[in-house]
Amino acid sequence: MSTNEQLFLNFRIATMDSIEGNPLGWIENGALAIRDDTIAWVGPLVELPASFQSVVKKIDGHKKLITPGLIDCHTHLVFGGNRIDDWRKRLEGTSYQEISRQGGGILSTVRATRATTSDVLLFAAKKRLTAMIAGGVTTIEIKSGYGLDEANEGKMLQVIAQLASEMPVDISATLLAAHAVPEEFFGRPDQYVELVCNQVLPACAPRCTAVDIFCESIAFDLKQTERVFRAALEHGKAIKVHAEQLSLMGGARLAAEFNAISADHLEYLDETGVAAMARQGTAAVLLPGAYYFLREVQRPPVELLRAYGVPMAIGTDFNPGSSPLESIRLAANMASTFFGMTPIESLLGITLHAARALRREDRIGSLHVGKQADFVCWDCDSPFELIYGIGSSLDCRVYKSGNKIAGD
Ligand code: NIG
Ligand code: FE
Repeated sequence: MSTNEQLFLNFRIATMDSIEGNPLGWIENGALAIRDDTIAWVGPLVELPASFQSVVKKIDGHKKLITPGLIDCHTHLVFGGNRIDDWRKRLEGTSYQEISRQGGGILSTVRATRATTSDVLLFAAKKRLTAMIAGGVTTIEIKSGYGLDEANEGKMLQVIAQLASEMPVDISATLLAAHAVPEEFFGRPDQYVELVCNQVLPACAPRCTAVDIFCESIAFDLKQTERVFRAALEHGKAIKVHAEQLSLMGGARLAAEFNAISADHLEYLDETGVAAMARQGTAAVLLPGAYYFLREVQRPPVELLRAYGVPMAIGTDFNPGSSPLESIRLAANMASTFFGMTPIESLLGITLHAARALRREDRIGSLHVGKQADFVCWDCDSPFELIYGIGSSLDCRVYKSGNKIAGD
């Protein structure tokens, strides 16, 4: 059996594994050796062991940059239709909450997604994902949440599974059946929550690794959120939550108490919630695309999250209503510009800390011997260039499990 052995040398490498207090794990003239799908060695070129010097396939980086593959740990990539009308209404003065109360918002995407065949959903999602991969993404989380019944949540997860089998990246599938109360359950939200827990979740459990819920005044309250968390745990699923996006509901604190892997959005998070997340090791996923697109003014408490040592990840939140943002690099730029994350924190937010938000930091997120060989060779010198330009493209070659999946 032939072995895939490759040696990348003369690269500047940001391993994103803290070395002696340097959080970038910066190596000025580095080498990266891969064997099959795994990182076999990484370090300064001068320290490369003799056993790796004989590798036949050598790639000279000419001092260009290598980083870990980027991770988008929060997306709603599969959906039908678009929300251009909502966007126009908001710019003409109607709020996101008001549009949602009028039956627009998430529910209009639910109508469009229910009316769209799996093939069409798959085709559209593939196009989006292809662009994201070309931008350096090697792992992505994708949520359901625009089906809101057993058949249509199942359809969405089926499309996500299809994407996972046809596209060369790792996909983490999350069930978000508790995204909104569907029209047929208006006035009966508790009954919908029971349907989610007793029917949708058991039916969809084989196709998802995590369960998410939108805990918000326009979606589900704390009691309903707790009910869904309990059901998720009964099915052995990891917990995630959309919390404190538009108001302080206490969803992040509750999620932490249930050992959630992440709490996401968090603009209105208070110190009690931050402390609970720190205690339980729940990652914070910040979504500046939604903050920008909804023209919010409340920023997440980055200083508190930093002070308590809560890992901060960043996602695009790619969705048609609140964040039609494809670029994880631009999300990181916004996290620094709008939220005050340092550029190093933002780079961690789309690599190692994003891996933590998916509980996959043992396999991905940094360039570490034994981890998956997911990395990107960039046509630039500094990792900060990744997140400095606003919407600028950057040539790159993207490697997943040791195989090139994008770039020349
Ligand atoms: O993450 N906050 C709730 N869910 C999505 C929005 C989905 C939509 O508006 O379609 C979000 O922002
Ligand atoms: Fe979201």
